[in-house]
Formats: sequence, C-alpha cells, structure tokens
Amino acid sequence: MAENRPMPPSTRMPPAAPTSTLAVQRRASLREFNTLGLPAVAATLVRIASDADVRRVVDHPEYGRAPKFILGGGSNIVLTRDVAAVVLKVEIMGRRLVRETADAWIVEAGAGERWHDIVAWTLAQGWPGLENLALIPGTVGAAPVQNIGAYGVELKDRFDSLDAVDLVTGRTVTLDAAACHFGYRDSVFKQHLAGKSVVTRVRLRLPRPWQPVTGYVDLERKRVESGLAAPDAHTIFEWVCAIRRAKLPDPATIGNVGSFFKNPLVSPEQCRDIIGRDPEIVHYPLPDGTCKLAAGWLIDACGWKGKSIGRAAVHDRHALVLVNRGGASGAEVVTLARAIQESVYGRFGIRLEPEPVIV
Ligand code: EPU
Repeated sequence: MAENRPMPPSTRMPPAAPTSTLAVQRRASLREFNTLGLPAVAATLVRIASDADVRRVVDHPEYGRAPKFILGGGSNIVLTRDVAAVVLKVEIMGRRLVRETADAWIVEAGAGERWHDIVAWTLAQGWPGLENLALIPGTVGAAPVQNIGAYGVELKDRFDSLDAVDLVTGRTVTLDAAACHFGYRDSVFKQHLAGKSVVTRVRLRLPRPWQPVTGYVDLERKRVESGLAAPDAHTIFEWVCAIRRAKLPDPATIGNVGSFFKNPLVSPEQCRDIIGRDPEIVHYPLPDGTCKLAAGWLIDACGWKGKSIGRAAVHDRHALVLVNRGGASGAEVVTLARAIQESVYGRFGIRLEPEPVIV
C-alpha cells in the first residue's frame, strides 16, 4: 500500500507545532502496530502515557480539533489505507489492587498494559477470575471497547468500571458497566463514543469465592480428559492457552485479528429452517428463543478453510480467522472477507458481520 507514496496535499500536515511534552511522530508506519501486519502510514502519531497527555492533545492548537483514531494493541483493526486522523497510541501503564472485599478483588490496570500480562499477573497474585480470557491479544484499554470474550466469560462479567478522557472537554470520567452498554463484541466505544473518548484505566472485579467456568465444550473436554473434578484457576488458564495455541494462529508468527466475523444471531424460524437443511450446523440456542450460529462452521461448510485471495488467506485450522500470509494489503483482506460473505449468503442466506473495525 501507500508506505512510500507521498501524502496527498490535503492530508499533508503543516510543520510540527511545538511539542515540548507530547511524543509525536510524523508519517509513522503502523505496520508494527496492527496484528494483521498491514501497511499503512499515520500522518501524525501521538504516544499517550497519561491522562495529562490526552488533555495536551485536546488543548493542542493543531490536534485539538482534528479527528482522532485511538490505537491500542491493533488486534482488532483492518487498515485499508493511510490514516489522516491523529492517531493516539495508548501506552498508559500500571497495575494495582484497588481493594479487597469479602466478595471480590478489585484490580486496576492501565489501558496500555497487555491484556494477557494482566491475566497472568492477577493469577500469580492469587486473584483468579480472568483465566478463561488468557492469551487474547490486545491491550487492557481495548478489552472493554469490544467486550472481549472467550470460553464462557466476557469482559463485562469481570468489569467494575473504567476511566476515560473526553476528547472534547479533556475531562476524565468514570463509567460503570451500564454506561458502557456492553453487547456481544460491542460497547459504547464502538458506537457513539467511537473516536471521542480515550479509555485510560480499567478496573476489574474478580468475584470471591472463585467459581470455575468450564461449561464451554472445549474446556469440558479437557476436564473430562484430565479426570479432575475441580480444576483450579491455574489449570484452567493452562487449558485455555493450550486450546487457543492448537487452533488460533499466534499474531506474532502469522498476522491475524482472531475471529474475523461475529457469530450471527438468527430468529427461531430461520434457525429451524437452516437446521432442516443442514442438520450438522453448529448452533447455540439462547434463552430468548433466538439462536447463535458458529460462523466458523458456516465458512468452513462453504469450503474456505486454507483458501487465499492474493496474500490474504483463511487459516487452515480455523475458518473464522483470516491471516496475512506475508505482504498482504488491507484491500486484499477486505476482498477475501467480501468473497466469504457472499458465499455464506449465497448458501445459507445469512449475512456475516465483521468483528474488527475496518479503517
Ligand atoms: N468450526 C468449524 N470449522 C471451523 C471453525 C469452527 O466447524 O473452521 C466449528 C467448531 O468445531 C465449533 C464451532 O465452529 O463447533 C465454534 O468454533 P470455536 O469453538 O472455535 O469458537 P468460535 O465461535 O469460532 C468464539 C469467539 C472466539 C473465542 C471462542 C471461544 C466469536 C466471533 N469468536 O469463536 O473469540 O475465543 O469462541 O470462546 O465470538 C475473537 O473474538 O477474536 C475470538 C477468537
């Protein structure tokens, strides 16, 4: 893509404004900052190490009013072009136990911490509860944005509150779970607060006494194989890491953003109709009568596993994961995603919705 292409005049930035305290980089490559490893250039990239840095951006004569793009670990974005908006790369660190009560440990982590490091650290401290969410790529700040989830636990189940800085007023606000509007891989930060508010710290609520969550089919299989009636949190952590390593590619080795599509929700009638035609279909009936279908199964059934378009491919062990075979452009990834959507729609009449944000 446009790595070596001069910026068009409309996006060329004026000479650097005084940046005595902000860490600013012009024409910054984003290739290292997105786990698909896609080439794109940010006209301006600002490294955010504190709430005060966000306020400096808000008060800045040049960046204050410019559109912003908030970047965490880059594990849920597909970059199809250079980014003209001011990229705020959130690198706020720190972790602490806020308080311990009879029924929970409340733990706080900076938005720039790696999510998996916080999972491992809380376990090591003797505060279990995040083990099912081990090895999810990305940062703590990105976790609430898309309400990350795996193996029967979602971020919202372990959430206390978060701090975010408003990009218009520069004020730090605290949001509880209700204010975050968590949904399936969704929150207010993907909707009306997108690009308007920077998550700076997240507080997690780890309930006491700890209760294992092993109902998810892959974990239940591990439990049966191990013969352990009551696995501890460390054991579940190891199982989750093993399951993920066996079927999901490590972004450090092969570029990917985890699941590329959400598992679609269908009405009871649609579900009955599809099961009638494809009795094998993997589906999960929900309490309200609707049904969640396994998108990976639908894509696999259309024969996509291991197939490529250009240098973008469908992972050969999990059809829901698109990978960069090396040197792919964002356009190639999007072309592949569209082709998959069309074939799933053609065969099942279901529209798959991408999970990552396409930029
Ligand atoms: N399947 C196939 N073929 C495939 C892939 C999957 O038939 O190529 C079938 C599997 O056999 C299984 C079903 O589809 O019966 C579901 O697959 P899996 O258990 O791997 O989970 P998933 O629905 O694909 C979801 C999340 C993952 C999360 C896992 C475990 C979404 C979109 N994805 O995947 O989250 O780790 O469950 O809880 O909800 C992510 O969001 O990036 C992510 C990896």
